[in-house]
Amino acid sequence: FEKYIPFVPLKLEDRRWPDRRVSKAPIWCSVDLRDGNQALVDPMNLQEKLEYFHTLVDIGVKEIEIGFPSASETEYEICRELIDGGHIPDDVTIQVLVQARPHLIQKTFEAIKGAKHVIFHFYNSTSTLQRKVVFHTDVEGVKKIAVDAAGLIYELSRSAIEAGMDLRYEYSPESFMGTEMDAAVDICQAVIEAVHATPEKKIILNLPTTVENCMPNYFADEIEYFIRKLPGRESAIISLHPHNDRGCGVATAELGLLAGAERIEATLFGNGERTGNVDMVTLALNLYTQGVDPELDFSDVNKIRDMYERCTKMKVGERQPYAGELVFTAFSGSHQDAINKGTAYMRESGTEFWEIPYLPIDPADVGRQYEPIIRINSQSGKGGAAYVMQHNFGFDLPKAMHPEFGRIVQAETDAVGREITPQRIYDLFKANYIDA
Ligand code: KIV
Ligand code: ZN
Repeated sequence: FEKYIPFVPLKLEDRRWPDRRVSKAPIWCSVDLRDGNQALVDPMNLQEKLEYFHTLVDIGVKEIEIGFPSASETEYEICRELIDGGHIPDDVTIQVLVQARPHLIQKTFEAIKGAKHVIFHFYNSTSTLQRKVVFHTDVEGVKKIAVDAAGLIYELSRSAIEAGMDLRYEYSPESFMGTEMDAAVDICQAVIEAVHATPEKKIILNLPTTVENCMPNYFADEIEYFIRKLPGRESAIISLHPHNDRGCGVATAELGLLAGAERIEATLFGNGERTGNVDMVTLALNLYTQGVDPELDFSDVNKIRDMYERCTKMKVGERQPYAGELVFTAFSGSHQDAINKGTAYMRESGTEFWEIPYLPIDPADVGRQYEPIIRINSQSGKGGAAYVMQHNFGFDLPKAMHPEFGRIVQAETDAVGREITPQRIYDLFKANYIDA
């Protein structure tokens, strides 16, 4: 990741702006197996969840929300299999979600028996809209639900902790984005007190957009305000849980981090309710291409994408950042030419930095190939065909040949009306220059 440092946008020491930047990875929590899974047309079965879980572990995610064990027998069984089957490495914490309701909380404690590291995540909705149309209650009403649940969880966790479980608490004021900030502060402070959180034993306060309904800067202002006003701030880890309804989940997460958040709940490729949760792959690799170690391993993004598509039966879009089929292609001739020149510059200068235009990341860093970068269609210029001859077949065409050969290739792409393969380019070369 160090090779990307000078492009953000200048060398660090020369930089006057931005005045704030994200300089270290957040704590990552995957909610693929819960938020992602609950939004699948066909939810994952046990085998698929296990395969997905192990992939997350291999990527390096240390906090994984495995489900909602009180919601159904299937969810309960999956939780038990993960624990009893010895699937959870010692450095990984499982997270379980539960509504702030006593019988569900009790059932969740049964589900986690025997686990070593657990985040007990409880939530209730606090927004003005939900209070009005769903719960018919006021701020005090939703605060009581949260505090009663926190008290019960604190009591029930005593024996588990005494028995050696490393158990931490997480509270989400669901629909935080639609909650008055002073009310959110008041409710969260009461929860901090109810679970006796301290700077040594922090609670995770997870602030969801739930439904993203305003601009990322507005959310960031809310986070900043919340952090500034929270009396027990030192006893809390501030976590974000962005959804993507306005298509701004990544921006929301990044601005939220700048505003002081320390942890992000996300999913691979942005799976999740409606338009999805924020995409962990994009967030992590955005950090990477700014010279920040994301502390997650996406060096074989194709493998992760294949697992994701197999287990979820969803497709990763062709233009999905970093992972889509088309993101390392260049169709335009001027782009192809610039990539060509950048590649030659890197080879000849021995630069330690990544200095190829139009490719914000070295495809090899995510296990992708240079092979499909240059594709030739009617939009390609003369440099593209020469590049394919050089790169795919080892023919270094003299500069003077480029225009003529470019015209031959262009005539072919115009005639067929679509992209042609490197092999077809070679055949054209052979027919025109070798066999002729
Ligand atoms: O989006 C949301 O608010 C949630 C909570 C349960 C954390 O998924
Ligand atoms: Zn969610």
